[in-house]
Amino acid sequence: MSGADITFRGAALVLPGGVVQGDLSVIDGRIAEVGVVTRPAGEQVDARGLHLLPGAIDPQVHFREPGKTYKEDLATGSAAAAVGGVTAFLEMPNTDPPTTTAALLADKIVRATDRARAHFGFFFGATPDNAAEVAALDPTRVAGLKIFMGSSTGTLLVDEQAALEAHFAAARVPIAVHAEDETRLRARLAAYAGQTDPALHPIIRDEEAALIATTRAVELARRHQKRLHVLHLSTAEEVVFLRGLPDEGLVTTETLPQYLWLDADAYATLGTRLQMNPPVRSRRHQEALWAGLLDGTIACIATDHAPHTVEEKALPYGQAPSGMPGVELSLPLMLHAVHAGRCSLRHVVRWMCEGPADCYGLRRKGRLLPGHDGDVVLVDLQRTRRVEAAQVMSKAGWSPFEGWALTGWPVMTVLGGRPVYRDGALQPGVFGAPLEFAHAPRVHRRPPID
Ligand code: DOR
Repeated sequence: MSGADITFRGAALVLPGGVVQGDLSVIDGRIAEVGVVTRPAGEQVDARGLHLLPGAIDPQVHFREPGKTYKEDLATGSAAAAVGGVTAFLEMPNTDPPTTTAALLADKIVRATDRARAHFGFFFGATPDNAAEVAALDPTRVAGLKIFMGSSTGTLLVDEQAALEAHFAAARVPIAVHAEDETRLRARLAAYAGQTDPALHPIIRDEEAALIATTRAVELARRHQKRLHVLHLSTAEEVVFLRGLPDEGLVTTETLPQYLWLDADAYATLGTRLQMNPPVRSRRHQEALWAGLLDGTIACIATDHAPHTVEEKALPYGQAPSGMPGVELSLPLMLHAVHAGRCSLRHVVRWMCEGPADCYGLRRKGRLLPGHDGDVVLVDLQRTRRVEAAQVMSKAGWSPFEGWALTGWPVMTVLGGRPVYRDGALQPGVFGAPLEFAHAPRVHRRPPID
């Protein structure tokens, strides 16, 4: 699909240097002029009273295709993304079959083409014996290598040292780890076998399990001099550990809106709906994650969008699967954080646009700059709406945030100059393109925004 033209008039533009009142034009799918537009092109959108941001990039989603498409598929998951102001997503390999060969990765790209409502990239899944395949991957076509160091949803797991060494030696793409230590998880799951209180989840999968695995992954990355991205950071201990590392540009990390807005008290009301890996933990961890974002230790916000059906999540603790949907509410939740005074719009753009673009080498995305892709989202910071299950676009059909009144919502999401979502409706015939990755060998921490 070739790019289109569109011009936004009178918006508050959230630029890399700050928020500026002005116009922005997209010509042939690329941002042409920013601030003052001398050559307006395409539809003139009256954006007065609204803010224009780069489209959000969600660097961790599970869209379940192939294999578990009753929970989600690439069309529905990406539609949820578009509604939420997300213009690009990086999807995880724990599908069925898992994405562990070049052929299966190519199959996902084919499946997403002309169906995904946002730009798309995929992780390759590590197994104990596929390091040779990893070495042969085309780095421009792969988001990263996903290693489950501890078991979660699906069958992927690599926890033996020799296999980890082989993967860290082979990878030419960022290595993204699910950092929970399998040995400790097994021991604790055995010790708590038969218990059905969901509030035990963060006690069983405790902070120690997370810290052991994160420390181990960082040691491997530094010795092999490879880029490491620690997925879904959940503990204060990991924040302190990562903050204390010298900034060699090797290690980046992310956290999730769920961890920033929900805490362990919510197990009493949400039960197994709150269950995810790594777990939602106490307020102490939540505050440490906020601090890690604000001081630049944590570069990105992802969602780990992990849809399971209402029926599956109603099973007792021990049988219910881990994970919750998130992709369509991450931007509203972070705009609500702006409304609540927890951070600024510049922070939101840093964490949801610039951070993911930098960590995964998306060179023309994440910033409102001339020459960048015309992937933008227009948001209304004044709009308050209650989250309702009936409005959830994901096939999951529920949200842990049901009943919350959030202030700050996307009103138009644009892919390459073409609105894919506007006035509350998906627009027909607008699809994303495969992402091209220019992975950088080093991604340094950025100074805090004041
Ligand atoms: O809670 C989780 N759910 N954590 C993961 O690591 C996987 C995800 C899923 O795929 O359901």
